[in-house]
Amino acid sequence: MELNKVINTDSIEAMKNMESECIDLLVTDPPYKTITGGDSNGKNSERPKGMLSGNRKLFAHQNIKISDWMPEVYKVLKQGSHAYIFTNVLNLTEMLNESLKVGFKLHNLLCWQKNNCTPSQYYMKNCEYVLFLRKGKAKWIHDIGRSKTVHQFDNIIGNKTHPCEKPVALLKFYINNSSNKDDVVFDPFCGTGSTLVAAKELDRKYLGYEIDKEYFDIVIDRLNCCKGGV
Ligand SMILES: C[S@@+](CC[C@H](N)C(=O)[O-])C[C@H]1O[C@@H](n2cnc3c(N)ncnc32)[C@H](O)[C@@H]1O
Repeated sequence: MELNKVINTDSIEAMKNMESECIDLLVTDPPYKTITGGDSNGKNSERPKGMLSGNRKLFAHQNIKISDWMPEVYKVLKQGSHAYIFTNVLNLTEMLNESLKVGFKLHNLLCWQKNNCTPSQYYMKNCEYVLFLRKGKAKWIHDIGRSKTVHQFDNIIGNKTHPCEKPVALLKFYINNSSNKDDVVFDPFCGTGSTLVAAKELDRKYLGYEIDKEYFDIVIDRLNCCKGGV
């Protein structure tokens, strides 16, 4: 397996050809369905408008089935490894059920508290959820004393490279806690490559897949610009 690479391809197909148990850590923000958190048709002026209207997509390749990729990410992870999978509240039940079905065990439901929020008629959303899972035997995170379930990191506001871009500092927090130098960090839905940049800057090996050519090109630029040991 070639490492320190991002590949412009469908990761579900690519993972079928990956050998089993070759990855030390999964950190991924997969595509999932999004719906409005507010007044989707704008008819009721007293209700806050949702960020999205109806089932409008944030990006092209959004509606894939969780059950199509969850078994593949489980297969490629080594025994005794951790997985961090971002989800929103509407996909949380399915994401957790599918992860347990393939064999993951739940360590914790993490909450990234952001410095902005999305309007919603059912409490404004100022956090995102992350399933913190393990495959096989449990192992401790590194920074036990300072790692809380709810953690604050500034969201990227304004010039985002991807509508769902995650802060590199947040991804470094997870990577530092669950891997060591030269471990292989994997993101099968890498968007514009935030996980890969974080991994590279922390001297981890990395592998990423992105199906959208425009995002893929941005990952290449970001990886060329960031500092790292590889
Ligand atoms: C939620 S975004 C990830 C954004 C990322 N967190 C970042 O900081 O840039 C999910 C990405 O998965 C990609 N994607 C969707 N289906 C895919 C597939 N089958 N194979 C590879 N990438 C896919 C989408 O194009 C999208 O860029």
